[in-house]
Amino acid sequence: MAQRRKLIVGNWKMHGSRAANAELLSALLAGRPYLGDLAVCVPAVYLHETAAALAGSDLRWGAQDVSEHAQGAYTGEVSAAMLAEAGCRYVIVGHSERRAYHAESDELVAAKAQAALAKGVTPIVCVGETLAQREAGETETVVKRQLSAVIHRLAHCAAEMVVAYEPVWAIGTGRTASPEQAQAVHAVLRAQLHAATGRGATMKILYGGSVKPDNAATLFAQADIDGGLIGGASLKASEFIAIARAA
Ligand code: 13P
Repeated sequence: MAQRRKLIVGNWKMHGSRAANAELLSALLAGRPYLGDLAVCVPAVYLHETAAALAGSDLRWGAQDVSEHAQGAYTGEVSAAMLAEAGCRYVIVGHSERRAYHAESDELVAAKAQAALAKGVTPIVCVGETLAQREAGETETVVKRQLSAVIHRLAHCAAEMVVAYEPVWAIGTGRTASPEQAQAVHAVLRAQLHAATGRGATMKILYGGSVKPDNAATLFAQADIDGGLIGGASLKASEFIAIARAA
């Protein structure tokens, strides 16, 4: 089996303040070393101070969204070049909250992933089904459709992305997919990635949705789960560190 280093990414969503961030980041630095790779995706306005706090460390940082456009009259948008300049290693694209509240389509998500890669920022592409879709037996169809749009757009660069499986019904609900449920979907996604790129065995597929210190180890022990995309628990240093240790 290919060795894939675990990756744990915090998604702060719209949380934080300069004071709270400084405290959280210094606690994360103090909690090193980690066995896997660790990153935080912060609100764009905090990227520069996050970069300053983490510079010279082995922690990485990133953003939570990016424009599909390179530059221009797009009020309120942030370009991939700007993220690259802020030292971002990662950007989350296609999070279910953006798909739901900002009507982001599979095609738009794919264009954003492409814009990020063009500037050397690794997109963390989120896919996941709603509860209604799961109950209707559509999980596989939905996640494969979401991923396939990105694979087609990225073409030979598709192997450069990170994928995150985040079942919508497990986000912020305290309801986690069981390790077996998550593994089953991860295996489907890996097969799809491998068929498209020939490099599926080396690509990272993260799980996200109510990952906590007490369930992280069993999730990360699954064959195709390469780490986590952590929401709520990434805001508390002790919990995020405990999750990172579980990797
Ligand atoms: P929670 O960990 O708060 O469920 O959020 C998951 C998520 O959406 C990460 O992107």
